[in-house]
Amino acid sequence: MTDTLANHADGGLRRGEPLIEMAGVGKAYGAVRALRGIDLRVGAGEVTCVLGDNGAGKSTLIKIMSGLHPHTEGTLKVDGRETTFASPREALSHGIATVYQDLAVVPLMEVWRNFFLGAELTAGRFPLAGLRIREMRRIADEELRKMGIVVNDINQPIGTLSGGQRQCVAIARAVYFGARVLILDEPTAALGVKQSGVVLRYVAAARDAGLGVVFITHNPHHAYLVGDHFIILKLGATVLDRARAEVSLDELTAQMAGGDELAELSHELGR
Ligand SMILES: Nc1ncnc2c1ncn2[C@@H]1O[C@H](COP(=O)(O)OP(=O)(O)OP(=O)(O)O)[C@@H](O)[C@H]1O
Ligand SMILES: [Mg+2]
Repeated sequence: MTDTLANHADGGLRRGEPLIEMAGVGKAYGAVRALRGIDLRVGAGEVTCVLGDNGAGKSTLIKIMSGLHPHTEGTLKVDGRETTFASPREALSHGIATVYQDLAVVPLMEVWRNFFLGAELTAGRFPLAGLRIREMRRIADEELRKMGIVVNDINQPIGTLSGGQRQCVAIARAVYFGARVLILDEPTAALGVKQSGVVLRYVAAARDAGLGVVFITHNPHHAYLVGDHFIILKLGATVLDRARAEVSLDELTAQMAGGDELAELSHELGR
């Protein structure tokens, strides 16, 4: 499983080396201030978990890192240099790859075609006539096998795979195309226990191969299984920011459950 990752991760990365650093980052959508004052660091070989309730600003935060929406406050440094990404392509050229909440796959297209979507291997001047189909099939098949994703047939529509397998294909794809930072927006949200385990194992493998991983989740248990650093967002601001050694699973769970709000709710519902 780690083979693929080790082969494609940047050999020069040192564990803990900062890949992305944010200081006081904020984002306003018109009058809506979706995010403010965010300090965050993504280190090579580390998993930074971002937790928070619906609407907390998690997706907004990763859209800034992945070049989808520019930040409107604060500074974003990539490899030590201050940057504002103009497009996802620019973020990608810095090795920042994102697997979105609503997976950008085409369900009716074959697994291998989705693997190469937008980055097809071509030969000669006529793109369609020149697609190196056999080669793409072989590479997609090999890459998936290496990481233990068994699909019956690389030609089957990706829509016929399980949610967990689809997430893994998307992660494998990002890594194969040279990601150094891997951003995952709630990759386990729609999955059962077993399939979540598959995805979490792969998150750990990406970390061990030296990638910096940003793992967005609602689930403190999933975060604690793989995380090195934890940030909890609430209404667009950071309410907790701790390294693994400074926080327990119980604390994370209590913060995520919103202890005070639960007590209030329990009172309101009279139980
Ligand atoms: N394009 C947009 N235009 C205006 N407001 C937006 C836009 N995108 C997000 N918001 C607002 O920003 C806030 C944060 O949204 P965001 O999607 O980042 O939350 P989230 O933590 O990812 O939530 P979820 O867990 O539901 O995915 C919300 O109040 C949302 O309504
Ligand atoms: Mg979201």
